[in-house]
Amino acid sequence: LFLSVTLIVGAYLLGSISFAVVVSKFMQLPDPHTYGSGNPGATNVLRTGNKKAAMLTLLGDATKGLLAVMLAKYWLQTSTQIDWALPCVIAAVFIGHLFPIFHGFKGGKGVATACGILFGVNFILGIATLSTWFIVAFFFRYSSLAALAAAAFAPFYAALLFGLQPLCTAILLIGVLLTWRHRQNIINLLNGKETKIGKKNKPK
Ligand code: G3P
Repeated sequence: LFLSVTLIVGAYLLGSISFAVVVSKFMQLPDPHTYGSGNPGATNVLRTGNKKAAMLTLLGDATKGLLAVMLAKYWLQTSTQIDWALPCVIAAVFIGHLFPIFHGFKGGKGVATACGILFGVNFILGIATLSTWFIVAFFFRYSSLAALAAAAFAPFYAALLFGLQPLCTAILLIGVLLTWRHRQNIINLLNGKETKIGKKNKPK
């Protein structure tokens, strides 16, 4: 139990590192909370026009999700607790990104982190969900719409791959939290005011 709790707390702390904030500081860009959508995420960092910073944010936020899951899988492989502990680790790293203890609990929307988590859980699950994101992004050019579609499909992909089990509940929870975090994007999409990928004119 000690190991499981340590992994869950560790996952939350790892998730709490906001790469949008860290990368922006290192590259002397403005704090992502102060421009565009105000969201500390790769899509918003891209609005500075700095593609490298956006890419590093994306990679950092995805890698922390991947790492939390990979470490938990490794440490829990012989444990009988893996059935409940792994879903908790998944939820913890994601919640860390949304409500980071290191950044006044003002976190991101979770897209990159969710992507890393899904690849950590299962490569095919990661590919299926990422493909969904790319297909929607390619046709509509909205990062948020692509993320919402991917989040809606991911629990179905998980259920198809593994059957109904606690892991699917964690992935469903991620989808629900991600959708809730995108509520302003949903309003903007409905009003035709959402900014397309790479465009800078989104008001805060
Ligand atoms: O990754 C977050 C994206 O889906 C929306 O971000 O900055 O346009 O609200 P943003």
